[in-house]
Amino acid sequence: MENKNSVVYQIYVKSFCDSNGDGIGDLNGIRSKLPYIKSLGVDYIWVTPFYPSPMFDNGYDVADYCAVNPMFGTMADCEAMIAEADALGMGFMFDMVFNHTSWNHEWFKKALTGDPEYMDYYIFRDGVNGGPPLDWTASFGTPAWEYVPALDKWYLHLFDKSQPDLNWENPKVREALKNVIRFWKGKGVKGFRFDVLNLISKPARLEDCGPGSGTSYCKDGHRIHEFIREMVTETGIENMITVGEMASTTLENCVKYSHPESRELAMCFNFHHLKVDYKNGDKWALMEPDLARLRQLFQEWQETMSQRGGWCAVFWCNHDQPRVVSRFGDEGAYWKQSAKMLGTFIHLLRGTPYIYQGEELGMTNAHYTSIEQYNDVESVNYYKILLERGVSEADALEVLRQRSRDNARTPMQWSAKPGVGFTDGKPWLESPDNYQSINVEAEEQDPDSILNYYRKLAKLRKDYPVIADGGIRFLDAGNGKVFAYERSLGGQRLTVVCNFSGDAETVALDSDLSAGRVLISNGGENLLDRLASSRLTLNPFEAFAILT
Ligand code: GLC
Ligand code: CA
Repeated sequence: MENKNSVVYQIYVKSFCDSNGDGIGDLNGIRSKLPYIKSLGVDYIWVTPFYPSPMFDNGYDVADYCAVNPMFGTMADCEAMIAEADALGMGFMFDMVFNHTSWNHEWFKKALTGDPEYMDYYIFRDGVNGGPPLDWTASFGTPAWEYVPALDKWYLHLFDKSQPDLNWENPKVREALKNVIRFWKGKGVKGFRFDVLNLISKPARLEDCGPGSGTSYCKDGHRIHEFIREMVTETGIENMITVGEMASTTLENCVKYSHPESRELAMCFNFHHLKVDYKNGDKWALMEPDLARLRQLFQEWQETMSQRGGWCAVFWCNHDQPRVVSRFGDEGAYWKQSAKMLGTFIHLLRGTPYIYQGEELGMTNAHYTSIEQYNDVESVNYYKILLERGVSEADALEVLRQRSRDNARTPMQWSAKPGVGFTDGKPWLESPDNYQSINVEAEEQDPDSILNYYRKLAKLRKDYPVIADGGIRFLDAGNGKVFAYERSLGGQRLTVVCNFSGDAETVALDSDLSAGRVLISNGGENLLDRLASSRLTLNPFEAFAILT
């Protein structure tokens, strides 16, 4: 990975900024906010899909990979957006949804007419005993096979039925997708994010698979490394910033996906750390976060990737995850401290940090009280499934309040104005009431705001090479709720200490730290004096980084 000191900002286009008052974010809205993004110290902007789409999954169901959905703007707007970011020294990463298309894609439409050439772009099978070929479930809670009566065949969809999976075994499919990359590269795009990439290589003999979750049979499939390498090397994006979204992957595979010698990707997203509050692995069953597990996962992934030459994307938030301050922090008295602590922890790790729009403000979950307020296909499906399982309406709503993807998708809070400064019209999704105080305008005025703290974190990465280039080792602070790690480069050491608890916690740390320099701290007073004693009491959610 080149440019290890880069910082990436993620935009969910539908919710970022609306330029024409229709209540939906758009490309011209993004253009108007490029100076703001630049002010954060960001190098790359990943923007979620804005291509033509029936929007069953908000654009992750792509009907045409090389065009712009009129709802979001025009190709001319897109070109201007790329050029304007370039002039500010930032590059765009576009989102490539290559595991599946929309059922509105022309390839799928042709497949549905029975054209054998296009049927082979997808995964069609005969049924078994009048039912689907396999008893698989899709990620959004439905069966994974859909019957097409006119063809008397079933097609595979690991997500919504409007998202048929592509057949990567077909070289024509691979070539067509490479052309998409070439197209956007030609437009000046500087990098790519690949949606659920480790699901593209399906089992060699599907008919031998058992029942269960479809994705669990398809993750990190037998031809995955070959497919990725071919796609990357043949489109000349090997030295660009690329990131693969890797569902339920292994550390072993992520080393390989991101190791320069593999010629695959610059880095991967993995999600193990965002399942530590899933009861028995079930996203729809609530549990307090298991902090010991969280720490152990970070230690294992960070240290192994470092020792073995892999590279991670490091992040808490994206458009599929609840807001981190609501999840591992505190929305109440320690809102500011906890948001800063969580930012400190992620930004000083080894890897490329991703900031999801609004994370830099400490935006919270949506706080919806009625199912009508939700939009997301997964949330709407699971609400029904929970009720069918016998969960009460109140409990099902509580699960959604904590787990729904709409928590991340409420409009970016620009100001306290109606429409949260996001739109002059009616926003497509409701905001939590706290936009009155949690917004860009308010946080710009406050030197001590979460927003200004995130700016400091991004700058530290540029100023201190130990953050981008150093090795990493987790430390035992003698307290399971306090996560500490040490970055090192040459003779320099950066010690990062984060209290994940809402209580004061006592730790034992190396007392040499009191002779160091505080690079950043979220407010604990007299830190160096306190460090001089062998046992240090940390404030709730306290975080700091010390250079020695
Ligand atoms: C990824 C996207 C998510 C989408 C899914 C199917 O997980 O991040 O938003 O629903 O893939 O494309
Ligand atoms: Ca709009």
